Amino acid sequence: MGKEGIPIITVTMSTGLQGRGVVKQLSKSGKYKIRALTRNPSSKTAQQLADLPNVELIEGNLLDYEGLKKCFKDSYGIFANTTPTKGLQPLVREYEIEQGKNLINAIRDIKGEGLLKHIVFSSICKAKNPLKNDPAPGHFSSKWDIETYLEVNGLSKLTTIIRPASYFENFDGDLPGLKITETTFPGVVNPNKPWQTIAVEDIGKWTAAIFNNPKRFIGQSINLAGEEMTGKDMAALLGELRGKNAKKVSYKMPPRFLLKLFIHDIGVMADWIERAAYGADLNNLKLIAKEENIQMTSLAKWLKDKQKFS
Ligand SMILES: NC(=O)c1ccc[n+]([C@@H]2O[C@H](COP(=O)([O-])OP(=O)(O)OC[C@H]3O[C@@H](n4cnc5c(N)ncnc54)[C@H](OP(=O)(O)O)[C@@H]3O)[C@@H](O)[C@H]2O)c1
Repeated sequence: MGKEGIPIITVTMSTGLQGRGVVKQLSKSGKYKIRALTRNPSSKTAQQLADLPNVELIEGNLLDYEGLKKCFKDSYGIFANTTPTKGLQPLVREYEIEQGKNLINAIRDIKGEGLLKHIVFSSICKAKNPLKNDPAPGHFSSKWDIETYLEVNGLSKLTTIIRPASYFENFDGDLPGLKITETTFPGVVNPNKPWQTIAVEDIGKWTAAIFNNPKRFIGQSINLAGEEMTGKDMAALLGELRGKNAKKVSYKMPPRFLLKLFIHDIGVMADWIERAAYGADLNNLKLIAKEENIQMTSLAKWLKDKQKFS
């Protein structure tokens, strides 16, 4: 609780895709003081966050347990996120687990202050049938291992675990062959397999709704997705949105062996999504979203907003 009696929510990885949405939505709610944790408060993204109402920056590093304890002091809530990206290496399982353990150890050790009431941990979708999970990609199992670490440290009763599906934003990435063009819609999953996805901004909306209604969400785990479409359908949707005179849009998937050669775990992830699928219950999510006033973003709206029509 802040000095003025306003609950403080500390957001880890605040300058990341999820963190920015979470900070924005919490700020919009007007209910909290938001501590946006970053390694570099002078970065442009951090400064943009600091311009939002009720947001202050705090310097911290998920690799620094002692520093994290200071960042979390007096927090009512914590949005906990971790990353497998270590410098130029995109997916380092052990690096993510190290952050998760620091996070949880620090949270566990400030819990005694008695102020902390709610943790939202951002994990990754689990399949409906756990037997189909193996072999899971390393950057998925790392998050599930962190979930277990949370549990064994006695924090489940304070925690909501959100498990987002793949971001829409991946369709507009920087990697060659993984960007929407005039004639292609890119993806790593087989064109005929249903693939659950979500606008990253919606993760922020869900997180704010979860913090706003702890009674409903504490102790729960929730797979989050906004759409379930095949690659072919997504390409066709983009074609339709562009209109009759536009060129045909085809779904383009890199050969799996090449994907595995360059980013092995993303290839394993594509296999996993095709085999086990993300387990989000879209109908139930729509019901909850309606009750909690969460405006979910459709892929069509996201594409229109991003103006992928040139
Ligand atoms: N891409 C997807 O489709 C998808 C779907 C579901 C889940 N996920 C998971 O989402 C997570 C990534 O979240 P995101 O997309 O929001 O992140 P992101 O956009 O990749 O941003 C990462 C942020 O983390 C911060 N950071 C990096 N190392 C840090 C450290 N050691 N200590 C503190 N902060 C650190 C950086 O901020 P500063 O430099 O400002 O400190 C950076 O802004 C990953 O675990 C990924 O597996 C991704």
